[in-house]
Amino acid sequence: MDIVLSGIRPTGNLHLGNYFGALRNFKKMQHENICYFFIADYHSLTTHPTPKDLQGNVKQALVEYLAAGIDPEVATIYVQSDLPETAELYLFLNMNAYKGELERVTTFKDKARQQPENINAGLLTYPTLMAADILIHRSHKVPVGKDQEQHLEMTRTFARRFNRLYKVDYFPEPVAYNFGQELIKIPGLDGGGKMSKSDDENSAIFLADEPKMIQKKVMRAVTDAGPTEKNSPKPDPIENLFSLMRAVSSPDTVEYFDEKYNNCEIRYGDMKKQLAEDIINYTEPIREKIKELSADDDYIRKVMDMGKEKAHESGAKTVREIREIIGFRP
Ligand code: ADP
Ligand code: TRP
Repeated sequence: MDIVLSGIRPTGNLHLGNYFGALRNFKKMQHENICYFFIADYHSLTTHPTPKDLQGNVKQALVEYLAAGIDPEVATIYVQSDLPETAELYLFLNMNAYKGELERVTTFKDKARQQPENINAGLLTYPTLMAADILIHRSHKVPVGKDQEQHLEMTRTFARRFNRLYKVDYFPEPVAYNFGQELIKIPGLDGGGKMSKSDDENSAIFLADEPKMIQKKVMRAVTDAGPTEKNSPKPDPIENLFSLMRAVSSPDTVEYFDEKYNNCEIRYGDMKKQLAEDIINYTEPIREKIKELSADDDYIRKVMDMGKEKAHESGAKTVREIREIIGFRP
């Protein structure tokens, strides 16, 4: 069985793009693999060194993961800082990570440009910490978006280097995992690219959004004056509405509006109303679950404790073996 691990930084609410891109498939995967999900709270310090409400952010991320269908009895869901062995592995990996290769990482260069007043060592060694997250469970597959591919490449380099330096075949070389062929991109509502939390707030629909808010955002989505020629291609903003509809509505509904479009009879107001209703229905169980779990601090604490214990079992074993391989006192 493969070991699968994924993580997110607790820096914002989950949106429909995160859900369809990453989480919806996890729900199934957790039954077919040994799965770890973690909240990367150490990593958040590289950009937010003095977080206002670290524990609140971590709790929110955990609640949304659980609401989206991760079962803490099946998968291991934990908080990065609850597995401090990660930091020890990070230290070992850093001893064999070179300044030059770290400086060449695109995300480092981007961040250095974005926060020139705070180009800290944590930012430079972000890929070693991420490699430690992945290697501490000796993971095989890492579900991530395209922007993380280079980090995975570094992880493989560090794993290979460790194996070579210490003449062992200990770490597997983990790959970025994209759920088979089904790479899905959920567009935003602003007519442009992908749905993203960092863009305009109105472009993204969050799993925790109330029905009224969803309605408001969808009704404001960018459209055009409508087609004037039968069967004409759909411009981006219109194609985006259809993409969203394909994700949440029934095939019949999509076909109905497609036909209307092709016959130049479409009324975007009607389509948006239907889309909003379908998004509201689709997300309702998740939204309800978020509310329910947010109010249940005892349960959340229990899940965190359980995750901590399970993550420790795997992580401590790895670090113990690494210490022995390098030659420390057992
Ligand atoms: P954001 O772009 O909103 O900051 P993140 O970078 O935190 O989102 O992405 C977390 C995960 O969600 C990534 O693995 C990424 O592949 C996935 N994801 C984010 N936005 C989308 C989208 N619009 N469509 C599909 N997947 C997405
Ligand atoms: N770098 C990832 C992101 O920004 C978060 C992350 C940290 C991660 N450690 C990880 C993802 C390990 C997968 C595996 O989205």
